[in-house]
Amino acid sequence: MTLAALAALGLTGAVAVVALGLYNVSAVAGHLPGVSWVLHTTFRNSVWLRAPSEEEVPELDDAELVALGAGHYATACVPCHGAPGQEASATMRAMVPEPPQIEEAVAHWEANELFWIVENGIKMTGMPGWPAEGRDDEVWAVVAYLESVKGEAAPELVLETSEPEEYCASCHGEVGGQVPRLDILSAAYLEAQLQAYRSGKRPSGIMAQAVTSVPEERLAELARHFAETADEAEEAPVADAELASKGEALAREGTRDVPTCLACHGEREDGRRKGPVLDGQRRGFLEVQLTLWRDGIYDYDPLMHAAARDLSDEDIAALAAYFAGR
Ligand code: HEC
Ligand code: HEC
Ligand code: HEC
Repeated sequence: MTLAALAALGLTGAVAVVALGLYNVSAVAGHLPGVSWVLHTTFRNSVWLRAPSEEEVPELDDAELVALGAGHYATACVPCHGAPGQEASATMRAMVPEPPQIEEAVAHWEANELFWIVENGIKMTGMPGWPAEGRDDEVWAVVAYLESVKGEAAPELVLETSEPEEYCASCHGEVGGQVPRLDILSAAYLEAQLQAYRSGKRPSGIMAQAVTSVPEERLAELARHFAETADEAEEAPVADAELASKGEALAREGTRDVPTCLACHGEREDGRRKGPVLDGQRRGFLEVQLTLWRDGIYDYDPLMHAAARDLSDEDIAALAAYFAGR
């Protein structure tokens, strides 16, 4: 009886706080004593419990992966965490909790913990989660950059770009690795992809951030520009002839239900093809894309998903070597 009465009283109190606005949500007032400690300890322990194990951390020492992460960090994270060596703005210092400057943000966490934080964000702090699902490969690129900040090897961030063309080229013309070249593709295909990233149909946190950083009415023009501008990023030639010839065999092998890769991606007599050009595309990009199609992270073209579904990691490496060298 008394318990029920107490519970009813507690509930009435809680309703009063919510309904009457008794709790002060002012950031200026800060948290009540002890609340910050409770929140921060909860955060730390929650990350420890949920982060992937250290064995799951991929190779992060790769210069192209670090450069890709840096390119994303420059627009997505700098507004809150600043660039290395930069002082926090007065407005960022007034946030509750205050976002730590980058050197401090990375100092107390290992790579696997940083991965969890960047993928999930932190509730009720302003720290956002990754804006696309299933894109561990992209989150690891950002972690590769964060890890580089702990040492001496962090690349300079490209912070000031006046024109969208320059901004897009800071990744597409320079980074290589899993960033595709665009000059082999048609303007119509490029524009369709930009719209697919924008709507989320093609889930990529990195490209979603990029397309929402430029005015939508510029996208068609950007697609035309990049279809016509030669990409000069350096690319190591594919030396592994044996792997490439295994890839060629796979590319010519269809099944009863699914045509061969070349039936859709090779040139036909009328010059049209069902799928985008892959010849001369970057190997790192092809490998990531084929893995996404195989694993169903990308599934918006059912036949493309079916074509990739049964590929092994080795098949993917071989196909990427073949098309990159074609
Ligand atoms: C809108 C502001 C905002 C943006 C944008 C943002 N963060 Fe944060 N981030 C925060 C805040 C606030 C915290 C502190 C949370 C806390 O201490 O409870 C935080 C915490 C972190 C931490 C944990 C550091 C620590 O010990 O508290 C890391 C790592 C981090 N952010 C990385 C990133 C990366 C990488 C990006 C870009 C992909 C990013 N953040 C984008 C606001 C932001
Ligand atoms: C931070 C680096 C970065 C920036 C900046 C960037 N991109 Fe990308 N872009 C990528 C990556 C990585 C991919 C592959 C994404 C995926 O997995 O689908 C990509 C994919 C694309 C594709 C799809 C190509 C294909 O073969 O399917 C187009 C088109 C594109 N980007 C155009 C642009 C344009 C236009 C801009 C400027 C508004 C831009 N990108 C800015 C890294 C970047
Ligand atoms: C039935 C036709 C078809 C077959 C067969 C097919 N693809 Fe595709 N593929 C497509 C289409 C269409 C897309 C683009 C989907 C979209 O963006 O709407 C695509 C996209 C891709 C991409 C991403 C390219 C980029 O620039 O974004 C890669 C890589 C790829 N395919 C490789 C392959 C390989 C390797 C095979 C054989 C194992 C294969 N495809 C078989 C139709 C096909």
